[in-house]
Amino acid sequence: MRLLRLAFFTGHRRGEAAHRRRQGQEEATRGSHGGVQFQEIKTELNDASKTEVFACPVCYEPLIRKGPPGMNLPAIYRSGFKCSKCNKSFTSKDVFLDLTVTSGIKEYSELKPARTELFRSPLVSFLYERGWRQNFNRSGFPGRDEEFQSVAGGILVDVSCGSGLFSRKFASSGAYSSVIALDFSENMLRQCYDYIKQEETPMNTNLALVRADILRLPFASCSIDAIHAGAAIHCWPSPSNAIAEISRVLKPGGVFVATTFLSTPTNSGLFSIDALKPLRQIVGPVNSSYNFFIEGELEDLCRSCGLVNYSSKVQRSFIMFSRQKP
Ligand SMILES: C[S@@+](CC[C@H](N)C(=O)[O-])C[C@H]1O[C@@H](n2cnc3c(N)ncnc32)[C@H](O)[C@@H]1O
Repeated sequence: MRLLRLAFFTGHRRGEAAHRRRQGQEEATRGSHGGVQFQEIKTELNDASKTEVFACPVCYEPLIRKGPPGMNLPAIYRSGFKCSKCNKSFTSKDVFLDLTVTSGIKEYSELKPARTELFRSPLVSFLYERGWRQNFNRSGFPGRDEEFQSVAGGILVDVSCGSGLFSRKFASSGAYSSVIALDFSENMLRQCYDYIKQEETPMNTNLALVRADILRLPFASCSIDAIHAGAAIHCWPSPSNAIAEISRVLKPGGVFVATTFLSTPTNSGLFSIDALKPLRQIVGPVNSSYNFFIEGELEDLCRSCGLVNYSSKVQRSFIMFSRQKP
């Protein structure tokens, strides 16, 4: 057993949690550091299990691996995975392991909502860390270093990782037994791989690239220590089903940390105003194809998916919040 600690950014100025865990040792920044305050959630978690962490997206049964063990790019690339129940098999495509329901499918194709499809484009994936993401600062996003939350220990999944700006940081921190960078966009995952090569993030240590849909997470129930979702909820086809999935896969005591844009009259139209919200059900989104919410809605949704200990920080339309599986 060991402690899981969440260092949660609640300040307004630049700063970063300096968590570094070396084998069997823990070190956590406490209290106030460089204008940033941290709240720590302590909980007991089981050690990362030695069994396969990936599960079939159809049956949720653990996958059987044929190939070298290890949660790193070369080992996963050289392995084949098969569901112990339905026999569906999964292999790495290019640089990532495809664990979508449609993996390996020949005839069928489907289009996801525009907010998902947009990020599958090679151009958007290329531009994402070359200006696109930096634009979020205008809405109050403080930037990569300030948004980075160190959640110490165990298996961390960076869902909707995009080009992996946080996954790479989590992996190179050395604080996790495994970091899984997960996205639905093939091109975002390829871009992430290119950055890993350029930045020399160690590929042989603990980083996996996985293609999966947030609505069908390829992990067994109660198997993941921490989930991070940076600037992603507003892009998901169904935030309620996604957060239910996150709650399903988190271990008891596991932590969910997320950032997103809050709904404002500018980004969501007139119907984001509280009194007019019921009309949103009738007219749908007006100005935007993204799903923006007010803070109370996010809290309510997490609670209805069984997550507790809500804590948040808001800066203009930016919100960072954390929740825990009881
Ligand atoms: C705005 S980017 C966020 C990237 C990164 N986490 C960050 O903090 O900048 C949103 C990401 O959500 C992903 N996404 C959209 N729909 C998804 C889905 N159904 N399942 C998984 N990821 C999805 C997109 O591919 C995109 O990479």
